[in-house]
Amino acid sequence: MYFIANWKMFGNLKSINSIKNVINLSTKLKYRKAKIIYCPPYTLLDQFVKKTIKTKIDIGAQDCHTHQNYGAFTGSINAKMIKNAGSKFIIIGHSENRNTGDTNKIINLKIKSSLNEKLKIIFCIGETLKEKKNKKTNQVINTQIKKGLKDIKKINNIIFAYEPVWSIGTDIIPELDDLRNQVKKIKFFIKKTYKVKNPLVLYGGSVNPKNILSLREISLINGFLIGAASQNSKKFIDIIKKTIN
Ligand code: 13P
Repeated sequence: MYFIANWKMFGNLKSINSIKNVINLSTKLKYRKAKIIYCPPYTLLDQFVKKTIKTKIDIGAQDCHTHQNYGAFTGSINAKMIKNAGSKFIIIGHSENRNTGDTNKIINLKIKSSLNEKLKIIFCIGETLKEKKNKKTNQVINTQIKKGLKDIKKINNIIFAYEPVWSIGTDIIPELDDLRNQVKKIKFFIKKTYKVKNPLVLYGGSVNPKNILSLREISLINGFLIGAASQNSKKFIDIIKKTIN
């Protein structure tokens, strides 16, 4: 079961101390099934890596530049640098970045350069409210997957994160039956297209200590990508405990 903390553009040197209790939890036998990954902003990657080096917790970045090698791209960070900073994972295709210009083609390049660095990808997919209302959800998601993974044959280093855009930061989660069906469809599409047996699909969007009790009932879901609630260790721990218990 994956519990991935996406800190987005939050956090400073002080906030790293707040993960102490999460580290403690990760050492307990009962929670060994919980795969905890922190994705802090670039500025804190190194500190997070140092803080978690002797633990089972892994670190990931939230995005990267498309360019594989070093280059004159002011303000950018590539997958090579992220790997070098000690990250094992990377989030790619988050809707907040799709919103500011990441096309499926750009996402494809970012995934390829990250795979070349042997990073594990947390590949975000999901429809907007308008697309949902127009009954375009499946079409949108399948296109995001197909174009995002164009020319990529082996997808064993890719974890899918279904994040309906209208669920992110809104405190609204999908109807449970709808979510179960959607995850089922996504898994079916991945299995059929990439000939894999057990693709991992996480859910993300307003996951919190209250709604986790319903979300955990959907056994097809392999974990959660958590934004706001993951910045608060108490809430993050609560989510992990309620899922595993
Ligand atoms: P929230 O949990 O804050 O809705 O964010 C979800 C998300 O975007 C995780 O990537």
